[in-house]
Amino acid sequence: MRAVYAESINSKDPLAGLVVGERPDPQAPEGWARVTVKAAALNHHDVWSLRGQGLKADALPMILGCDAAGLDEEGNEVVVHAVINDPGFTGADETTDPRRSLLSERYQGTFAETVVVPRRNLVPKPEGLSMVEAACLPTAWLTAYRMLFVRGGLRPGESVLVQGVGGGVSTALITLARAAGLRVYATSRSEDKRARGLEIGAHEVFASGERLPVKVDAVMETVGRATWEHSVRSLRPGGRIVISGTTSGPQVDDAMLTHVFFLQLSVIGSTMGTRDELDALVQLLHSTGARPLVHAELPLERAREGFEQMVAGDQVGKIVFTL
Ligand SMILES: NC(=O)c1ccc[n+]([C@@H]2O[C@H](COP(=O)([O-])OP(=O)(O)OC[C@H]3O[C@@H](n4cnc5c(N)ncnc54)[C@H](OP(=O)(O)O)[C@@H]3O)[C@@H](O)[C@H]2O)c1
Repeated sequence: MRAVYAESINSKDPLAGLVVGERPDPQAPEGWARVTVKAAALNHHDVWSLRGQGLKADALPMILGCDAAGLDEEGNEVVVHAVINDPGFTGADETTDPRRSLLSERYQGTFAETVVVPRRNLVPKPEGLSMVEAACLPTAWLTAYRMLFVRGGLRPGESVLVQGVGGGVSTALITLARAAGLRVYATSRSEDKRARGLEIGAHEVFASGERLPVKVDAVMETVGRATWEHSVRSLRPGGRIVISGTTSGPQVDDAMLTHVFFLQLSVIGSTMGTRDELDALVQLLHSTGARPLVHAELPLERAREGFEQMVAGDQVGKIVFTL
């Protein structure tokens, strides 16, 4: 079958190991389902994999991709949940399984004609969501949903700062926060991206690092080093930072620990989400009409172009491959 996979790992030149080619058709073990992929979205995770973070050399060749929407064996339209639990895990929150993995780490990913996943990982796709829109949800959008409403515990009427506009998670954060009745502030390095931020739901946008006119209830962080200090300074006393990524690097110059204790701030980690949270996210989009911002839709054969755009940081919203 046609697939986009990592043949080798290269921390400096991640696209050197990227191949668009042929891989064997996968077999579904007992209790797993075969999904005919119609659309699959790119995440920064796929670039990290090519750099060797989260993907080990002994797992190569590995089909990349965490996100997909498609058809199950009965022809039902489904969204694929990307978190694969250890078969022995019995806890209530699958994101706390220490042996969990994401598709494309231990099990072959979604950038292919067919992907196999545990049957419970399938979530019904409503008709009103296109395959391309649905394919955006399992990683970036689910991460944003959990950051805002589960780990962040945000309620309508509260205020939130989203660091960055262009990323898949940040566009999702802005759109979902607005749909849920929050006051939304966002920062971006680019004037064009700030304008897009306003279009997708931010009330006010600022240059990265610019002082906000108010102190917010919560900050959503995926940038890390480049924005950390600004995030801490932007919070009201008792506010919280929810962090799920460190695109600009994890080693901050100043962790602002004095601010953290004196203002009684909370720093909360967040990772992906559960299958039921993905189901709730799908329903939230269905009922509010909010939709993912799609930067580019490319046939799977042109996946390399999508990877190049992500490495360059040019995109605003999701890059989706179609089959
Ligand atoms: N924990 C999880 O479960 C999970 C799930 C999904 C993603 N993540 C992580 O979350 C991060 C975001 O992923 P993504 O897929 O949304 O794509 P991405 O391409 O990594 O997003 C980049 C974002 O970071 C901002 N940014 C990058 N460098 C910056 C800098 N030097 N200064 C200020 N802003 C900067 C960009 O904002 P502007 O271009 O607008 O300035 C953009 O919004 C990644 O690190 C990813 O690994 C984690």
